[in-house]
Amino acid sequence: MLTAERNKTGSRTLAYLRREVKIPVPEKRRTGKGAIRVAGGKVFNIKNLNVELPLGIMTAITGVSGSGKSSFMYEILHKNLRARYERKHRSARVFNCASFVGAEYLTRAVLIDQSPIGRTSRSNLATYTGAFSPIRDLFAATEEARLRGWKANRFSFNVKSVAGGGRCEACEGNGEIAVEMHFLPTVYVTCDICRGKRFDQETLTVKYKRKNIYDVLEMTVEEGLKFFKDIPAVADRLRTLSDVGLSYLRLGERATTLSGGEAQRVKIASELFEHYSVGTRLQKTIYLLDEPTVGLHYDDVVKLLQMLNKLVSYGNTVVVIEHNLDIVKNSDYVLDFGPEGGEAGGKLIARGTPEEVAGNSQSHTGKYLRKALRK
Ligand SMILES: Nc1ncnc2c1ncn2[C@@H]1O[C@H](COP(=O)(O)OP(=O)(O)OP(=O)(O)O)[C@@H](O)[C@H]1O
Ligand SMILES: [Mg+2]
Ligand SMILES: [Zn+2]
Repeated sequence: MLTAERNKTGSRTLAYLRREVKIPVPEKRRTGKGAIRVAGGKVFNIKNLNVELPLGIMTAITGVSGSGKSSFMYEILHKNLRARYERKHRSARVFNCASFVGAEYLTRAVLIDQSPIGRTSRSNLATYTGAFSPIRDLFAATEEARLRGWKANRFSFNVKSVAGGGRCEACEGNGEIAVEMHFLPTVYVTCDICRGKRFDQETLTVKYKRKNIYDVLEMTVEEGLKFFKDIPAVADRLRTLSDVGLSYLRLGERATTLSGGEAQRVKIASELFEHYSVGTRLQKTIYLLDEPTVGLHYDDVVKLLQMLNKLVSYGNTVVVIEHNLDIVKNSDYVLDFGPEGGEAGGKLIARGTPEEVAGNSQSHTGKYLRKALRK
């Protein structure tokens, strides 16, 4: 199996799977506290579906392609939860079912998909995770910056120089310039004034521990962790990125160039940081993930599983659509859809702990789970 990785210089290379450590079957399944109850679910191939989704644990939704997993997650679960928790979607009606109860045990629903993070090319890993703000404060606090009267916004490439920013005005802080050509796609060339460094010369003379702001954005998460180890506001944020297996990314990595799987893990890292920093005071959240292991390196599946378990240990609920048996056998509960795809699907075939589903002769997933649990 081939997998994309980045080497020390940041470029992607292909690396073969390294040693495989078997993910063990957990000794004990957690049991839920309360449940979301859906009655009369009806959408696409789903007809009159009655489901009980336990809260406070990790549930895997399984089933063959086209059996109705995503329809259940997006059209029933997410639509109804969103109508309870999000002001923008607030509604008293129920969607695609006759009744939907139990949402009051939680206060927030978060869909973690593989869609890109950050809509503009200005958003990068450091800005998205909130690490850039304390970094700019560190630069503003240097003697050099204070002598010149420069504030934190001097170290932002989003602030115009007339407004006190230190960005390179030739490229407006982008580091590259778009060259429009007739009948051809737009080409981006490195700005020859700042040479892609995004800041003006003067700003780059300011150093914190002998690095300027551009040098810092060029650091990988791993390097940043060492460099900022005494600054919890930065280090704690970077640590969650490294925990989800993203230590090879650069702090200045544009959010728009992250792969779907990387973007998804950055989102998980941000959520973990919130729970870690705010602790139990943070609202109880239900996380919905549709096939998060797609394209992940084996080691990263292990990391992902650890992160999902951590979210559960903070008191949250995780619902994950998965074909990956390592994730399924490590879930506390399984909802298996089927029996087949399309019109022959849309039904709940089996539910219970992985052991219980493995004992169900009607379920395709059960058959595979039996083998996976035996190992
Ligand atoms: N927007 C839609 N309009 C009509 N039918 C749909 C729509 N989306 C999905 N379906 C149908 O509903 C059924 C279930 O699809 P769904 O996407 O929920 O399956 P799934 O279990 O998530 O499959 P996969 O594992 O391939 O993602 C399929 O027969 C599909 O064709
Ligand atoms: Mg699907
Ligand atoms: Zn420039």
